[in-house]
Amino acid sequence: MKVRKAVITVAGWGTRFLPITKAQPKEMLPLVDKPLIQYAVEEAVNSGIEQIILVTAMGKQAIEDYFDRSFELEYVLEQKGDVRRLQEIRELSDLVNVCYIRQKEQLGLGHAILTAKDIVGREPFAVFLPDDIVDSKVPVLKQMVEVYEQHKTNVVAVDRVSIQDTTKYGIIEPKKISSHIYQVLSLAEKPEPAQAPSNLGVVGRYILMPQIFDVLEATPPGKNQEIQLTDALQLLLRQQAILAYEFEGVRYDTGTPLGWLEATIAFALKHPDIGHKLREYLRQLL
Ligand code: G1P
Repeated sequence: MKVRKAVITVAGWGTRFLPITKAQPKEMLPLVDKPLIQYAVEEAVNSGIEQIILVTAMGKQAIEDYFDRSFELEYVLEQKGDVRRLQEIRELSDLVNVCYIRQKEQLGLGHAILTAKDIVGREPFAVFLPDDIVDSKVPVLKQMVEVYEQHKTNVVAVDRVSIQDTTKYGIIEPKKISSHIYQVLSLAEKPEPAQAPSNLGVVGRYILMPQIFDVLEATPPGKNQEIQLTDALQLLLRQQAILAYEFEGVRYDTGTPLGWLEATIAFALKHPDIGHKLREYLRQLL
């Protein structure tokens, strides 16, 4: 069955960005000229996703407003004759069918995904952690959908991480099966470098079979007393294969202030309107 639905989790507090995130969702921080969340949504749409399920929490209403129609704003732009902006605003709300469900308690990534169980139903689906933004020719999820179509099993995206950074990622024990694809033999959530089975870290893109929901329901709290998706994947290995796909593209972790700044500079340098001037400015500055 085709991968039609994507779950995007936006329920975190964004504590690393406090105080900004006290009154504004982290996912609405700009990356040049669009909020972070829009990159994930556009990647999903450009990968063939037809329905997006955003798992939200208290204080995330700005995201709902962003993808909704704003008749008042459209009216103002129409009166001004600002056709370009009017079109942009309309395109945004027509982008995709989005529905929202709230995670009432912050019990971890696994729990957030479980919240979407009834909306997803019994079909394969994608998961996006929108902090991970990948600059690539072909959208990462689209690359993964191709792997899924061939193998019809769970696929997680992986990237090489430096060995001291294994404590920041789910790390896989890989068995290479082709140039970009590994069979996952086991997974560990944020292991110390000495315990890490490799330096292949899971990046926030997954294609999962619906059986993951049954497993998540039985997954006990793990690291930080949270229900970890990585632990559920480890349990899922008893009944299904998981493939790891080393994608083509450059990944940015916009979940930290430094990563967000790096992404901002990299994306701004490529921007047709401002890239050239920014490059000159950075040269001067250095
Ligand atoms: C989560 C997952 C981790 C994964 C990472 C990717 O961690 O728990 O397995 O490698 O996303 O970004 P978080 O970054 O939310 O702490």
